[in-house]
Amino acid sequence: MDSIKNKLDIQKMPEHIAIIMDGNGRWAEKHGKARIFGHENGVEAVRSVVEGAGEAGIKHLTLYAFSTENWERPKSEVDALMELLVHSIENESELLMEKNVRLSAIGNLAKMPLGVKEKLDGCIEMLRKNTGLNLILALSYSSKWEITEAVKRIVNEALEGKLQPEMINDTLFGQYLNTAGIPDPELLIRTSGEYRISNFLLWQIAYTEFYFTDKLWPDFRKEDLFEAIADFQCRERRFGKTSEQLSM
Ligand code: FPP
Repeated sequence: MDSIKNKLDIQKMPEHIAIIMDGNGRWAEKHGKARIFGHENGVEAVRSVVEGAGEAGIKHLTLYAFSTENWERPKSEVDALMELLVHSIENESELLMEKNVRLSAIGNLAKMPLGVKEKLDGCIEMLRKNTGLNLILALSYSSKWEITEAVKRIVNEALEGKLQPEMINDTLFGQYLNTAGIPDPELLIRTSGEYRISNFLLWQIAYTEFYFTDKLWPDFRKEDLFEAIADFQCRERRFGKTSEQLSM
């Protein structure tokens, strides 16, 4: 399977890949197990993909680990997911360090249970000086929330006289989002055969290429990531221009 990776064009590597990890529940059901079993096995996929992204020289990888809407799931599943996050952070931090991975998080982190927040902050701090892949976890994240927060901050700064309405453009707006300083993803992957964006990075995906696969997240591995990148590399990204203009 290493051959797929070797066929990738390093000149055309996306800088930022975002993934909607979907299908854990269905994977568990297929195996006759409780939903949490699917999430637990989803961690294997996360490990493999983080490793693969590092090997492929990807700079930023954003994983949609928990959405604002996920708080509405049964309490037992939410609690189990939070516990899994704490354990994963604990268990994976050494490996992340070894792989030179940096960690960051986007989302309404104030809503995360204190124990998760503390573990997360500790891990972010521990990996702060690493120079490899930037792994971004979207936690308690929703794009509409992120955009609304940005609008509130901009309005407040305008009311305080720090900002003039004429200064507001898409570059400035992007600086008020959680992803400030991170390039927009060139590639968005969603697993499990669903074709939705689910309130994820709505502003940032204006020109992103989408890749959908029927694989359920716990079955997804770095080879699947390489396949998605290979598919991306065959696309012509025109950004509203014509093919002719691109070859000029
Ligand atoms: C979506 O599948 C998946 C989630 C809501 C949780 C994702 C969490 C993990 C992969 C584990 C922990 C993550 C990290 C970063 C360590 P679903 O439950 O909606 O699946 P379904 O659509 O089949 O029900």
